[in-house]
Amino acid sequence: MSEDLHIVQGTKEEQYRALLPQVQAVLEGETDAIAAMANVAAALKEQFGWLWIGFYRVVGNELVLGPFQGPIACIRIQKGQGVCGQAWQLQQNIIVPDVNQFPGHIACSSLSQSEIVLPVIRQGKTVAVLDADDIAVNRFDSIDEHWLQKMIGLLPEPIR
Ligand code: SME
Repeated sequence: MSEDLHIVQGTKEEQYRALLPQVQAVLEGETDAIAAMANVAAALKEQFGWLWIGFYRVVGNELVLGPFQGPIACIRIQKGQGVCGQAWQLQQNIIVPDVNQFPGHIACSSLSQSEIVLPVIRQGKTVAVLDADDIAVNRFDSIDEHWLQKMIGLLPEPIR
């Protein structure tokens, strides 16, 4: 079977709708969370072309950079720091329409203008966060939140 991703045009909703089952098929039966995160990041980058998409894993008492696509990024983020650290601390999805208006935003890339972060929660605990950044202001909304939540649901559990 070819592993090529079938990239679709259309509304954001249509793009996610076509992408999700493909990612699901690729991850079918996979138990290695890092490998799964790597392919989720790659699929999202290929389909949407955002500036940065990837994961930070909770390791001890900090977030540590995990699989991602895009420019190099800060490696460690403390709880409560930046958008990622706050999403972890609050266990809440955070959409930032304009990072310049977000107090404490960590600018890994000066090109990033908007961001969405979703905690990956397993057995009530945040084990990682998914982070997407883009060069456009206001790039992410509740549609992204809805579908990215489903992407996260495809990751093997428990994450290790
Ligand atoms: N902007 C994030 C840091 C991670 S990078 O954007 C990849 C934050 O404020 O937590």
